[in-house]
Amino acid sequence: MSKFLIAGNWKMNTNAFEAEKLSGYVAGYLKENPARCEVLMCPPFTSIASVGETVKGSHIKLGAQNCYHEQKGAFTGEISINMLRYIDVTYIIIGHSERRKIFGETDELINKKIKAVLDAELTPVFCIGETIDERNAGKTYEVIEKQITSGLNGIPAEKIAKCVIAYEPVWAIGTGISATPEQAGEAHTNIRSFLKDKYGEEVSAIKLLYGGSMNEKNCRELLSLKDVDGGLIGGASIKGDSFIEIIRSADELS
Ligand code: 13P
Repeated sequence: MSKFLIAGNWKMNTNAFEAEKLSGYVAGYLKENPARCEVLMCPPFTSIASVGETVKGSHIKLGAQNCYHEQKGAFTGEISINMLRYIDVTYIIIGHSERRKIFGETDELINKKIKAVLDAELTPVFCIGETIDERNAGKTYEVIEKQITSGLNGIPAEKIAKCVIAYEPVWAIGTGISATPEQAGEAHTNIRSFLKDKYGEEVSAIKLLYGGSMNEKNCRELLSLKDVDGGLIGGASIKGDSFIEIIRSADELS
């Protein structure tokens, strides 16, 4: 067994045809060369079910990029956790910086979603991270700690221990320039020690993923860091060969 979780966040990319092609390519490789790390694909909602069919038998897990916290009802355009569970989704990305910034998701809403995902016994991939202005102002940890405490507000430690946290510095997302190993290493170690001080030993053992321009070239350095337990990968996850190379690197490091 490997500690690594390699997760692809496809964002708003791939139609159903492209999603099947991409997932089929990666699944085909993994059927021949089974990975020891956990592999997760988070396609757009419209392709989750068909990707699930395509990757059957490959150990690839299915994730969603968002959900709504209410169970059902008059919430036009939203998707419930039960709807996702019914199509075998086990992970849900919550609080991605794009949802915070573009769609105005607040810490309070994110907290409701994390609670609902945990109540449904699925795993939230809870995203945190500072903007470049916040980093330059020396506020990185202040920002991250507020995101963590607000997002996890009112959740008992034994449930928090079931979350995955993704540190995604906003300035590294989609820019092609990842955090340096020093920056990522420092942030991850700080986050883990904050979790330990605030919620206890059990919570400090959760998986901490790095996200932000991780690719097949820089993944080794980032995944080698002590407190990095995997990656949440955008652009490089929708290129089959790049995603496979990141999975292979994780396996080689474990
Ligand atoms: P990129 O890998 O494209 O920078 O995206 C990272 C991300 O936002 C994953 O959630």
